[in-house]
Amino acid sequence: MKKHIITNGPTKLKGSVTASGSKNASLPIIAACLLFQSTVKLNNIARLKDISVLLGLLASLNVKLSFDSDGITLDTSDVKNISLDQKQASLIRGSVLILGPLLARFHRVVLPMPGGCKIGKRPIDFHLKAMEQLGATIVYEEDRVIASAANGLIAGNITFPLPSVTATENALMAASLAPGVSTIENGSVDSEVLELVAFLKEAGVRIDIKGSTFIIQGHCAPLTKEVQFSIMSDRMEVGTWIAAAGITRSHISVKYLRLRQLETVIEHAREVGIKIEQKNHYLSIDATGPLQAKSIKTGFEPEFPTDLQAPFAALNAASDGTWFIEETIWENRFDHIKQFKNLGVEHLLISGQKCQYLNQSASTIRSGTTTGKDLRGTCSLLLLSLKPKGSSTLIDSQHIERGYENFIEKLNSLGASIKQYPNSFQKLEYNKVMGSNKMQVS
Ligand code: EPZ
Repeated sequence: MKKHIITNGPTKLKGSVTASGSKNASLPIIAACLLFQSTVKLNNIARLKDISVLLGLLASLNVKLSFDSDGITLDTSDVKNISLDQKQASLIRGSVLILGPLLARFHRVVLPMPGGCKIGKRPIDFHLKAMEQLGATIVYEEDRVIASAANGLIAGNITFPLPSVTATENALMAASLAPGVSTIENGSVDSEVLELVAFLKEAGVRIDIKGSTFIIQGHCAPLTKEVQFSIMSDRMEVGTWIAAAGITRSHISVKYLRLRQLETVIEHAREVGIKIEQKNHYLSIDATGPLQAKSIKTGFEPEFPTDLQAPFAALNAASDGTWFIEETIWENRFDHIKQFKNLGVEHLLISGQKCQYLNQSASTIRSGTTTGKDLRGTCSLLLLSLKPKGSSTLIDSQHIERGYENFIEKLNSLGASIKQYPNSFQKLEYNKVMGSNKMQVS
């Protein structure tokens, strides 16, 4: 559903928020439940649109889902269907994560082409080649692929041309039920991948990691251990709060359950002039002193994450200085920067995957109307519109709900004045996808 947001600035944030569970760690771990013939309890799962769509896809495969205040229990003992609904699967990129586990367990998958944010070409060739290396045959049809391995997957050696996050996750899940020892070379060692590895190890899969090589001892039969697992906090949300504090020159604190790699981002923010202290699962973020824009070059972990490029671009736009961004992962992740102009950011030059601001001054930011196109970019437009005096409108704000749980409510609890039309969706959306009041998330 299309939505819009009206902000009233200038905004000063104050207080504390709790970061939700990681979206990009939850998606593969939910998909990995298909490797089990038992029940799995997942705690700290965020109530997000992308996650509700994936849960809906699992429900359509006959996975039984039940919710309580801590999380979700998934019972995969009675999965029957191996075809995914085309319309639902095309809503999110995460639907591709069903390929590996479903193929490993049921030896055949009909996978519609996945969707997701429009930030680049987003092919799935690495995923499909990895499945072929594990013994699968792939048939390409219009808008879908059929993957099959009549006698089940077998262990194999996979080498990725680039350390793709979700392709590494798919390969790890598939190899977990491919009997024998598989290797994945040049895999992604991003925090979300390591979280999936921790989950699979908890389930009894032996995985060793040496640099960017994974060695997996595949099981012959579905996993049966009854596992309880708490998902780490969303480091992209925590990074977004650092940018939010910086843009509004505020002092806030963020509580988290567990973070893996955020050092690069914290170091970057400190060089901008934000004081950050980490103690007892709290991050104190003090951005009340002078800030200076700092150039960004995104890259694979441990370099600066592409998913925080947009919020930190907004932080640069709200700071003084000349700066530069190079986006090395996605070909088309600058839509938000084009929109910054509507909030008074002048002197911008964009060329391919690079952009540059000359003589930027924070004082030029003014209220205006912008339009969101993707999750992180839309969030950056909201953050930048908190700074200037007056009322700003953000059209197509619904993208934020794909990846940030109760973000507007959290901002308002810190003192922002934001209204969304029509009002918040998240509880409703879970009910709608699951189609049952019994499954309601409260
Ligand atoms: C994951 O996407 C994240 N999504 C993205 O987050 C994130 O931006 C990205 O990793 C990079 O960190 C999820 O985890 C659900 P990739 P993914 O495969 O796995 C090329 C967000 O905002 N490639 O690591 O799809 C690709 O074009 C989202 O939360 C191929 O060429 O990204 C890109 O240039 C957006 N062929 C590079 O690899 C393939 O088959 C890395 O992409 C796969 C990837």
